[in-house]
Amino acid sequence: MAGSGFGTIFRVTTFGESHGAALGAIVEGCPAGLPLSEADITPFMARRRPGQNALSTPRKEADEAQILSGVFEGKTTGTPICLLIRNTNARSADYEHLRDVYRPGHADFGFSEKYGIRDHRGGGRSSGRETAARVAAGAVAQILLRKLGIRCEAWLSAIGDLPIARGAEISAGSPSACPSAAPAMADVSDSINRLLQRLRETGDSVGSTVTLSVTGLPAGLGEPVFDKLDANLAKAMFSIGAVKGLDIGDGHRAALSYGSENNDAFRMEDGRVVKASNHSGGILGGLSDGGELRLTVYFKPTPSISRPQMTVTKDGAETELSIHGRHDPVIGPRAAVVVEAMAALVLADALLVGMSSRLSDVESFYRARLTP
Ligand SMILES: Cc1cc2nc3c(=O)[nH]c(=O)nc-3n(C[C@H](O)[C@H](O)[C@H](O)COP(=O)(O)O)c2cc1C
Repeated sequence: MAGSGFGTIFRVTTFGESHGAALGAIVEGCPAGLPLSEADITPFMARRRPGQNALSTPRKEADEAQILSGVFEGKTTGTPICLLIRNTNARSADYEHLRDVYRPGHADFGFSEKYGIRDHRGGGRSSGRETAARVAAGAVAQILLRKLGIRCEAWLSAIGDLPIARGAEISAGSPSACPSAAPAMADVSDSINRLLQRLRETGDSVGSTVTLSVTGLPAGLGEPVFDKLDANLAKAMFSIGAVKGLDIGDGHRAALSYGSENNDAFRMEDGRVVKASNHSGGILGGLSDGGELRLTVYFKPTPSISRPQMTVTKDGAETELSIHGRHDPVIGPRAAVVVEAMAALVLADALLVGMSSRLSDVESFYRARLTP
């Protein structure tokens, strides 16, 4: 299977299936000397972990990432970091009724056509569970970025057409998957609970929106032609299952606006160039512009629903399908940290690639080593 790796210098490869023994990631290119432990990765994994509330699948997984290599005495060694997440609660029998049928809205039909063989238990590599490996790898990238004062934060910003404020409590014990605190919003959680109740009664699912903010980025990250920062972020976001749209800054709304509205005026502040507004979302010409990086990522409704749907079997017989098993009624709550992880992977890579942009940077790096 091609396409399981991502990045140029800070590079991640993920492996494993949702109902196999384990899944995981290999992170290459992480500089030596970064303090890293399994406990540092746990809080990121916890935000994606299933079975925590009514917004996610009842599948209960510990989702602990074990570090198998690349760390010595609490610090990265510069060698590949292997992160392993064991599957401990896979109930493969739940998926037996899907062995010969294609789930509408899922990857089953395409996988069968492409490979001629398909792991029907949870979708194999196309399972949402594959994103656990991304979160573990993304945690390493985030820990590196934080060392440099760069912070990524993503939160669930809408379920269906119900907007959610950053940090709002949207259901008992379930903040909008955003680490920063904000007051509880009883009205939003009431509407969401009513919506979830309706989904349970009708066997349906609903779409969702995740917003990402990155602060502390220097201007000039990204490569100006094929590896534009926005191009690489778009690839990263669209590689997450169920992502169907993306806005960077004003995104598609820019097509409805005028130049005089859309341009962000530059001004000086404390001797630095800053922008008076941020319609660009922090990227101009494929390079970070020094402002806050803002993305909005749109997720479709979870394809696996228990409401009966028409489909076909692998032998071409039309049939009705009602999907049981454990599924997320809405994907965004668990995907916010996945969005954060993918952004962190792109940014960590862009930082390392960008170190060779100027001769003066290369000279100062090698002078420090060559001068006795
Ligand atoms: C965090 C996360 C959790 C997901 N959970 C489920 C799920 O429980 N059931 C399901 O059918 N799809 C789930 N998905 C979506 C499928 O992975 C995705 O729809 C499928 O691979 C088809 O790809 P596409 O929607 O991008 O076309 C999840 C996705 C993510 C990112």
